[in-house]
Amino acid sequence: MAKDLTKQQETEKTGAAQLLEEGIHHVNNPVLDLPEIVKNYLGPVSGFHQENNNFYFTDGGASVEIKVVSDEIIRVRLAPKGQFLDDFSYAVPQSDQHVAVYNFEEDLQAYRVKTNTVTCVVNKADFLVSFEDREGTAYNKDYSPMHWEENPDFGGYYVYCTKEAKATEAFYGLGDKPTHLNLRGKRFVNWNSDTYSFQFNQDPLYRSIPFYIGLHGGDAYGIFFDNTFKTYFDFAAEAFDQTSFWSEGGELQYYYIHGPHMMDVIKRYHSLTGTHYLPPLWALGFHQCRWSYYPESKVRDLARNFRERRIPCDAIYLDIDYMDGYRCFTWNKRYFPDPKKMIKELADDGFRTVVIIDPGIKVDENYWVFKEGKKNRYFCRRGDDYFMEGYVWPGRCQFPDFTNQEVREWWGGLFKGLVEAGVAGVWNDMNEPAVFGRGTFPNDVRHNFDGYRGSHRKAHNVYGMQMVRATYEGLKKLYQKKRPFTITRAAYAGTQRYASVWTGDNVATWEHLRLGVLQLQRLSMSGMPFCGTDIGGFSGEPDAELFTRWIQFGVFSPFMRAHSAGDTAEREPWSFGPEYETLNRKFIELRYKLLPYIYSVFWEHTKYGFPILRPVTIIEQHLESNVQREEEFCFGDKILVSPVLNPGQQRKTVYLPHGAWYYYWSDAIFQGGEEHEIETPMDEMPIFIKAGAVLPEYPVMQYVQEKKIESFKLLVYYSDQEVNSYLYEDHGDTFAYEQHIYLEKKFVVKGTLKSLTIEQYEDGLYSTKYDSYDLHLVALPFEVGQVMVDDKPMAAVLDDAGRYLVKVPKNFRTVSVTE
Ligand code: GLC
Repeated sequence: MAKDLTKQQETEKTGAAQLLEEGIHHVNNPVLDLPEIVKNYLGPVSGFHQENNNFYFTDGGASVEIKVVSDEIIRVRLAPKGQFLDDFSYAVPQSDQHVAVYNFEEDLQAYRVKTNTVTCVVNKADFLVSFEDREGTAYNKDYSPMHWEENPDFGGYYVYCTKEAKATEAFYGLGDKPTHLNLRGKRFVNWNSDTYSFQFNQDPLYRSIPFYIGLHGGDAYGIFFDNTFKTYFDFAAEAFDQTSFWSEGGELQYYYIHGPHMMDVIKRYHSLTGTHYLPPLWALGFHQCRWSYYPESKVRDLARNFRERRIPCDAIYLDIDYMDGYRCFTWNKRYFPDPKKMIKELADDGFRTVVIIDPGIKVDENYWVFKEGKKNRYFCRRGDDYFMEGYVWPGRCQFPDFTNQEVREWWGGLFKGLVEAGVAGVWNDMNEPAVFGRGTFPNDVRHNFDGYRGSHRKAHNVYGMQMVRATYEGLKKLYQKKRPFTITRAAYAGTQRYASVWTGDNVATWEHLRLGVLQLQRLSMSGMPFCGTDIGGFSGEPDAELFTRWIQFGVFSPFMRAHSAGDTAEREPWSFGPEYETLNRKFIELRYKLLPYIYSVFWEHTKYGFPILRPVTIIEQHLESNVQREEEFCFGDKILVSPVLNPGQQRKTVYLPHGAWYYYWSDAIFQGGEEHEIETPMDEMPIFIKAGAVLPEYPVMQYVQEKKIESFKLLVYYSDQEVNSYLYEDHGDTFAYEQHIYLEKKFVVKGTLKSLTIEQYEDGLYSTKYDSYDLHLVALPFEVGQVMVDDKPMAAVLDDAGRYLVKVPKNFRTVSVTE
């Protein structure tokens, strides 16, 4: 384990050439002028003490804190000079969770901090830290002791952690990296970057989520390196048996999160960093965006087209041109003379209006936002106290310091006018932060960092997160009871508490459609559940086929928005001729039918921390054959899809996880645990429903809650195994769910060759408006002789698809169908 320890503990000299190779340099300080830097490793443990659930170890100079966060989560911190930094995190609002039982043991070789689930072992001789389950199986071990280098740029440390990588270990997570799901053999850097038309394997992109999941021998664990500086990860790339993460500053602080199931790791990561609040139901509908819809007549035309063509849509976006000279919180009165009236009329027709906001505030002494910000010193400043200025859409701009609570409150209040005009959602863009020409802010810019002051090195990766936090909190106050809808481009771990995300400026190519499938699965595994791509591709021109295939993937993207750059041809669902309009309508209608299911899956995220998209690897992590699978994924736990990712594709091979599945378009049954050849005509995509599922379905509506539901349709898929399904219902747009005003229903389905029973259990205080369910019984293996609903006989008829249909009261307990 502690190979070459003496060699490692010799002080390592690393020259400028090495630094250059690692990309550790910055513009104002040519790398060749940097002094030599020195790597220090922890030496043998020489002392120990305990304070409550924190255990402190020292080698005489440096200290390591091991904190029991919960039975399954342990935090590790390193203080190179024995002095820990302030315990403050934007990602983890509260690192003290409920600690059940832990104890401490010491023998000649090691110290052991034990919870009910995990043992953290600290070796005395070499200070290596490892994590085991209660049976003594090691999940994660240090390869070398934690180490650090004096950072010659600003006096802090580069901090490093190197772990053992098992020969077959796979790695997942890390946010939006546009590459294969398994990260093994690759290196990454986290530094939020505006990356227009990014490429496969490009790194970094817009978000920094320093969280990964390791999987070996079917067992999983997670590592969350909570450090906002530029961070690096090497997954067995440099050395096949090592995985390292390091940072250009801040503290070596990471959480070990125990599995063994990947779902549990993700759930526990969410217990640290929070979940996405339940979005308003309309936000799960179809969104139409473009850079830009203006003037007002164009917006109205767009809305009319949707309704006349009977293509469902809930949200229309206004990109930067709605503003006066790109000044945030203003309107271009020539294009939009009466925004309130327009937004009201759109709302009457079922459309919500979402507007874009950028962080750059135009330097203009006659502009109230600039004047207020300047007067109150809300804008970021350079190291010499001069303003941070840069060019973005409005020209010369200054930028609010969103890491200051007072600035966030001010920013949140600026939305008052937009909210009064009726705006329903806010799209936060360019918040990496992006600056034309120079990319982003120089490192010397100062930030308040909520009182834990620091330079842009520390604040860069959280700038966008704090901007969207300010937006979210402001909107929440202004809407009072209603749930806001926000979307952000840049993010750090924990941003899911405030916003949805989209993958940024992608390209209208088949490769990017595939990338989107990878990125959304990865974001979902990395704690960013409400994610989507620019459907159709932001830049470039998709042909009709690519656009329709992307719409199909969009139905199964948690966030479904079509968007395109201003220099492209018009890009609405009808832009490719009647044949494709029909196809696009069919799939957008499918999204609307699935809404009650999608909403229920979202609830499982909000309440329990499960992701919405679930890669097959998560479902069957014990099967090594799944390590490289990345085209199929589950949407919730009852639907599996495999988007079509190639032009002219007539069929594709689809792997189904174990169990029985029904093909959505035909009800044909398929056995899981194997691959199947599926035909992929343009009007179908491979969609499978898990046997035993109760799939709720809304009638097609042009926008959410357009129609009153008289009798709620539930598709009951036959199974000879007992299967549970969940349905969540509430008002759809208030925070009343936090007061338990909702209904959580569980359906239990169980069949034999001659019978099927459906049981219902209910919890919650909401009462639904409909009175009955229409149960459509899919793929029954027998002719129905009798239906009993709570001991009363009921009639079954055949529906249009030839399935048995039974109408039952909504509060039924048991439905039993027999031959
Ligand atoms: C950025 C965004 C894009 C937006 C454009 C104009 O490129 O990523 O979505 O349309 O700016 O605001």
